[in-house]
Amino acid sequence: MLELKGICVSFRRERQDKLFGHTRRQVLFDVSFSVREGSCLGILGESGSGKSTMGRVLCGLLKPDRGEVLLDGVSVYASRAGRKNLQNKLSVVFQDYTTSANPRFQVKDIIGEGLAVRERREGRALDRPKEVRELLNLVGLSWEFAGRFPHEISGGQLQRVCIARAVACRPEVILFDEAISSLDAHTQVQVMDLLRELKEKLKLTYVFITHDLTSITYLCDDVLFLYQGRVSEHLPVSRISGTKDEYARKLLESIVVFDTEDREDCGENDLLEKGGIL
Ligand SMILES: Nc1ncnc2c1ncn2[C@@H]1O[C@H](COP(=O)(O)OP(=O)(O)O)[C@@H](O)[C@H]1O
Ligand SMILES: [Mg+2]
Repeated sequence: MLELKGICVSFRRERQDKLFGHTRRQVLFDVSFSVREGSCLGILGESGSGKSTMGRVLCGLLKPDRGEVLLDGVSVYASRAGRKNLQNKLSVVFQDYTTSANPRFQVKDIIGEGLAVRERREGRALDRPKEVRELLNLVGLSWEFAGRFPHEISGGQLQRVCIARAVACRPEVILFDEAISSLDAHTQVQVMDLLRELKEKLKLTYVFITHDLTSITYLCDDVLFLYQGRVSEHLPVSRISGTKDEYARKLLESIVVFDTEDREDCGENDLLEKGGIL
């Protein structure tokens, strides 16, 4: 259903040695993969590996230099109709929920942004209070939250609101870019449980970008490792421990060290260094 073919992206970089002129730095190299309908694909890679850039290409915000994105067989960047098709079927949840929600909007208006997308698509006005109530309910919040501003609720609650906004337009696919990374560990698990539940209930497909392997094993069916802008491995999560990929192995070892008695033998710097990979 969702497919990336040979995606290459580069950014303009001013030259240091000359006053005028510029070079280009390539960030994504021939990235190809597809996402199975109803599955959750995790995209894992260290900081700067090109995950968010790939996410922007995938959600229609950044036209690649080469390659194409296909959603249900329709090319996203080839025509306006392609972008419309994507807007109607794909929602995004970003890491920084504090800036992705307008601080002057009440919760009901934040969710209303997602409802507006659906109203445009269906060409009719929805019963907004009813919809907001149902959506709040769906993400585990009560109606009391509808009139609150972002600064009046916790980070976990605000991320639930952003999730409600994402599902409000009834998408087929949701892209999460580090969506739970700024939450504390306990809240992360609660939000991941919510995401699992919503995926089943609403028959959604997820693309879950993260630098954290633990959340991949908790939530995803398949995992794709991105290393310096290239796909280094793509395999089912159930086979992750058998990966031959060097980078993937490094990531796995850096996780294992926290779970075994090795921890005792590991100096603090060692732990920081290994933890830093994730
Ligand atoms: N708009 C941009 N202009 C120039 N360079 C960029 C831009 N966006 C990202 N980059 C560069 O592309 C690389 C990959 O960034 P990004 O996709 O954000 O990585 P990740 O999300 O994996 O941390 C980084 O080196 C970053 O500096
Ligand atoms: Mg990123």
